[in-house]
Amino acid sequence: MTVGLIGLGKLGSAIGRLTAEAGHRILVADRPDDPVFGLVLESVLPEARAVPLAELLQEADVVVLAVPQPALAGLDLTAARGIVVDATNAWEYTDGPDSEHRMDADVWAARAPGVRVVKSLNHAAYAELLADAREHGAAGRRALAVVGSDDDAVARASAYVDSLGFDPVPGPSAAAPLLEPDGPDSEHRMDADVWAARAPGVRVVKSLNHAAYAELLADAREHGAAGRRALAVVGSDDDAVARASAYVDSLGFDPVPGPSAAAPLLEPDGPVFGVRLDADGMRAALAEGLEADSAR
Ligand SMILES: NC(=O)c1ccc[n+]([C@@H]2O[C@H](COP(=O)([O-])OP(=O)(O)OC[C@H]3O[C@@H](n4cnc5c(N)ncnc54)[C@H](OP(=O)(O)O)[C@@H]3O)[C@@H](O)[C@H]2O)c1
Repeated sequence: MTVGLIGLGKLGSAIGRLTAEAGHRILVADRPDDPVFGLVLESVLPEARAVPLAELLQEADVVVLAVPQPALAGLDLTAARGIVVDATNAWEYTDGPDSEHRMDADVWAARAPGVRVVKSLNHAAYAELLADAREHGAAGRRALAVVGSDDDAVARASAYVDSLGFDPVPGPSAAAPLLEPDGPDSEHRMDADVWAARAPGVRVVKSLNHAAYAELLADAREHGAAGRRALAVVGSDDDAVARASAYVDSLGFDPVPGPSAAAPLLEPDGPVFGVRLDADGMRAALAEGLEADSAR
């Protein structure tokens, strides 16, 4: 079976690993404009070959969609020869706050007429997929729903899901909403106060959260290297911050300590998230962000 993966982030690389372990041939949609794509592919899925999207759609028996939902609008899948497994969700954390992007059978039928789309692999976290896969017939094997309106497509997708390590459970496309997360959930945000209440006495430091994982792999440099990227290490316990800083340094980054009030600056909507800065730049950005916060 040839499997075409579109999206090689957390979910795509986990599905890719299981697909490689199942012995399938894997094609991944190339990202010629992304300077770290080749590096990520080599490190997480060396078995795969990057090809243009048109070639992937022509070759693949099963195409797996593992991009954030807003990216689906830019993908023309009409040339897909095989079936498409839509593993995406309308989940604020990865897909943005805009539920317009929600893709159900009707939206698919309008957007990609004739393309046989099945929903599956979207209702387990990527780490669970990696941890829970078991051989066919194993006792207590986890089941995954495979839902769609085309019986043949559901059967093909089910065979693929089975090969990855899960008991496929077919269902009608009307069941697709049952597989989605139940929407935006900001309750999980952890700041210093939440940590203090939830784990009193535990010394928690915030760091490593404001660079994409591929950037962490690409940007790590030896201590003292010119232009080494800095990462903020923030918390209210100086000793814990110092220990976490030594760890961050050992990983390949210049640690820049800061107070726990700086934690929101590191989150996805903060000013240092995803920005490559050296130590001086990071210190200045944290100081500026804290000043702006206190002026509010
Ligand atoms: N993470 C999970 O455990 C999980 C579980 C079930 C379902 N899902 C769903 O799966 C989808 C992906 O989530 P994720 O966690 O894997 O997100 P992610 O880690 O951010 O990965 C998404 C990947 O898609 C890439 N991408 C974006 N546009 C693309 C395009 N046009 N062509 C090819 N690649 C493209 C992104 O590259 P850039 O970073 O360069 O844009 C990124 O590598 C979401 O809908 C999510 O709700 C996730």
